[in-house]
Amino acid sequence: MLQNIAVLTSGNDSPGMNAAIRAVVRTAASKGVKVWGIHNGYKGLLNDEFEELTSRSVGDMIQKGGTMLGTARSNTFMTPEGQQKAFEILKSHGIEGLVVIGGCGSLKGGAILEELGMPVVGIPATIENDVWGTDYTIGSDTAANTVIDAINKLRDTASAHRRIILIEVMGKTSGWLALTSAIAGGAEHIIIPEAAYNVDYMAEEIKASYDIGKRYSIIVVAEGGASAVEIGKQISEKTGIDTRVSVLGHIQRGGSPTVKDRINATLLAERATLALVEGRSNILFGYDRSTVVELSLQEAVYCKKTLDTELIRLSRVLA
Ligand code: F6P
Repeated sequence: MLQNIAVLTSGNDSPGMNAAIRAVVRTAASKGVKVWGIHNGYKGLLNDEFEELTSRSVGDMIQKGGTMLGTARSNTFMTPEGQQKAFEILKSHGIEGLVVIGGCGSLKGGAILEELGMPVVGIPATIENDVWGTDYTIGSDTAANTVIDAINKLRDTASAHRRIILIEVMGKTSGWLALTSAIAGGAEHIIIPEAAYNVDYMAEEIKASYDIGKRYSIIVVAEGGASAVEIGKQISEKTGIDTRVSVLGHIQRGGSPTVKDRINATLLAERATLALVEGRSNILFGYDRSTVVELSLQEAVYCKKTLDTELIRLSRVLA
C-alpha cells in the first residue's frame, strides 16, 4: 500500500473538481495515506507548490465551483526537460503516486509522468465532455444546466418580440455541450464543429415556421462551429426577421455543481484513489452509462472522442 500521494487539478476548471479533491483526500485518509495538494496544476508542480491536505482542509468544499487547488497553464511542462523536472520534484517529496483531475491535455500530462515512472490515475473533468472512452466528465452536467437556464430565459424574450435568438456556447472542438443543451432546451437549430450546416436551409425553415404563426426561434451555436454573430447577421438578411445574439462565455465554467456532478466526482475520485493506494496505476476512471469503468490512461489521452450521431439525428428530428 502506498503511503504518500499527491493530487492536482489542471487545464480549465470545471464544477465538481472540489468534490473530487475532497473525495481523494478523505478516501486516502481513511486508509492512513498522506495526501499532498499541488497548487496551480503542472505549473505549480514545477514551482514546488505543495501543501499537505487533511480531511479538515477539504471541508466546506463540495458545494463550490472552481478548484481549491487552482489551475494554470505551463509551457515548461510541455517540454521533455520540464516533464523530467516535474517527475524529480514529485520524487523529492517522496510522492509514490499522483491523481490528475482535468481534461484531455491534463490527462496527457499524467500519461507522460506515468511513462517516466510515476504511478498516475486520471479523473476526467471538463465542461466539454470530450474525453475519449467515458460518457461523462466532471462539470459537464452543471455547464449543460447553465446553458438550459439561459435558453429558457432567452426564449421568453424571443417570443415576446418574435425574434430569432442565437446562443453561443463553449466547445472549440466538441459540440457535446451545444448538442445536449439544444435537445434538452428545445432549440430549433444547432451548429456544432462535428456536423455540416446550411444557413440557407435554416433561414427557409425559420421563415416557413414564422409564416404559420411561430413567435420565436432558438439557434444554439458551439463556438468551434461558427460565430453566432456572423450567422445571426446572415439569417437576419435572408429572413428579414430580427435576430439577437447571446454569447454565454465563462459563466458556463462556474457555479455550484449539480447533484450529478457532485456524486459522480465523488465516486470517480474514490475509485481512483483506492486503485492508486493499492498499487495500481495508468488508469483513467470514467463512466459507461451509469457504471464506473477503468480505461487505459495512455489509450484514452491519445484518442479523440466523437459525438453520438444518434443525438445529432435526434436534434434534427425534434427541431
Ligand atoms: O473549458 C473549455 C473551454 O471552456 C473552451 O470551450 C473555451 O474556449 C476555453 O475553455 C476558454 O478557456 P480560457 O478562456 O480559460 O482560456
